[in-house]
Amino acid sequence: QRPILRLLSCPGTVAEDLRRDEQPSGSVETGFEDKIPRKRFSEMQNERREQAQRTVLIRCPEKISENKFLKYLSQHGPINNHFFYESFGLYAVVEFCRKESVGSLQNGTRTPSMAMETAIPFRSRFLSLKLKNQTSEQSCIQSSDQLPPSNRKLCELLCYAESIDDQLNTLLKEFQLTEENTKLRYLTCSLIEDIAAAYFPDCVVRPFGSSVNTFGKLGCDLDMFLDLDETRNLSTHKTSGNFLTEFQVKNVPSERIATQKILSVIGECLDHFGPGCVGVQKILNARCPLVRFSHQASGFQCDLTTNNRIALTSSELLYIYGTLDSRVRALVFGIRCWARAHSLTSSIPGAWITNFSLTMMVIFFLQRRSPPILPTLDSLKTLADAEDKCIIEGNNCTFVRDLNRIKPSGNTETLELLLKEFFEYFGNFAFNKNSINIRQGREQNKPDSSPLYIQNPFETALNISKNVSQSQLQKFVDLAQESAWVLQQKDTDRLSVSNNQPWGLAAILLPTVPNRRSFTKKKRKRSANESVRNLLESLKSNRTANFTETNEK
Ligand code: GTP
Ligand code: MG
Repeated sequence: QRPILRLLSCPGTVAEDLRRDEQPSGSVETGFEDKIPRKRFSEMQNERREQAQRTVLIRCPEKISENKFLKYLSQHGPINNHFFYESFGLYAVVEFCRKESVGSLQNGTRTPSMAMETAIPFRSRFLSLKLKNQTSEQSCIQSSDQLPPSNRKLCELLCYAESIDDQLNTLLKEFQLTEENTKLRYLTCSLIEDIAAAYFPDCVVRPFGSSVNTFGKLGCDLDMFLDLDETRNLSTHKTSGNFLTEFQVKNVPSERIATQKILSVIGECLDHFGPGCVGVQKILNARCPLVRFSHQASGFQCDLTTNNRIALTSSELLYIYGTLDSRVRALVFGIRCWARAHSLTSSIPGAWITNFSLTMMVIFFLQRRSPPILPTLDSLKTLADAEDKCIIEGNNCTFVRDLNRIKPSGNTETLELLLKEFFEYFGNFAFNKNSINIRQGREQNKPDSSPLYIQNPFETALNISKNVSQSQLQKFVDLAQESAWVLQQKDTDRLSVSNNQPWGLAAILLPTVPNRRSFTKKKRKRSANESVRNLLESLKSNRTANFTETNEK
């Protein structure tokens, strides 16, 4: 169970300005928005990381005066922005203008003394604010709920929208990560980085996956990558003379063993000393070893990996696709929510389609439009310059990083059309013989008999959906056909709002609606057998810890 995360708004903060400036993708414009120069992924990551390093997380008393709180903290230096949120208690995220302010605040902070227990002294940027005198403060913090809407609220919002385009943009607006939530994700990585830095002073802990690839939904997990390249590459600094120095190190037989050893130690450290890190699990035998834990104060479920640079590159590629054209995110959010509503995806690993695979399917579909809405990965490679050249473990990961060099698409299709066509396209896709390949943007013969074959864009001999069973694929195809059919019915249009009937997107997010019965009758007969089959398949695949074991063998 994740704790409820409620953000409390601070009117007029820099955060709001940033939200206005940096999140045009939530706007309802359709198509390529080429007015604003877009930041490179690495620029965005570096800026946010630097902000996070000037930021502290403070557990606050329940009742607190915002003005007094800010005045107290300003003794250590000017504050750039701040916000409050609730997650089993009140927390504040405070970003100072200067990094030195954090040190100054820490220097005036003490380790608590406990009556019954002993505190392990640990200096971090996660603090607790106590009132010296128990005067009851008037709380003047305004609360604004940043959770995604309940199903009921969502249904209402969708029913009152003007069009299916409007519905998809509403869904995106309600579910996308807010500016504050994004800040909290970078701050959490930065706090973990401080802990890992005790062993590896030059390490960087970078968020990847949906937290940064523009497809993150409120409540999604926080994937972290412990980057040790700085430590590894220090020796490349040129020195004069005929000598070079190398560190004396311990050797192990393989990269995998090195990864396991590093994660094992960091996992122990998080468990013993990491403030707010609970439920630490070391899943070191997975294909991609990881440490999983809950960061209580932020409410994030975290997966920490290392030696997983390709996943970071995949996130960068998805960031480019998600930022290029505002229709991409709206469609991906719509399809992800649709899949979740019908239990096609699950938070438990198994024979199900993952959000990552679904996103690849949407990208592929958008590459297949005429004219294409998204470029193929190969064409992004041809736009690359020398700086973009990137080879990871022998895999060519070169593609253009500067978004402003990618030509806009001339395609002006509406989201409504794209949604319907997505279901048509995959409802009739020859999954039995073809694979999906975003590198070339066309179907290819499947190299093996996996029910669903989506080529890994960088490790091209691998299938990212190897885990998906035939019955789960069939369920996806059936639901795609059914949804295409529902969207084509006249009575799913805007007019039926007067009868309070869910229409358009709302109609396909519902498990069943009466007017679909004729379509689904035949299919339902199969469902009993299918349930048994699914159960067996999930039992089989649950032996593995996460996707990393089930996929890509
Ligand atoms: P959420 O469901 O919102 O967490 O989406 P996500 O994209 O963050 O997925 P997840 O947390 O499962 O994985 C994090 C990242 O790891 C993804 O964005 C991918 O970059 C990578 N990844 C996930 N699954 C696979 C896979 O099957 N193969 C490969 N190569 N990479 C994967
Ligand atoms: Mg994730």
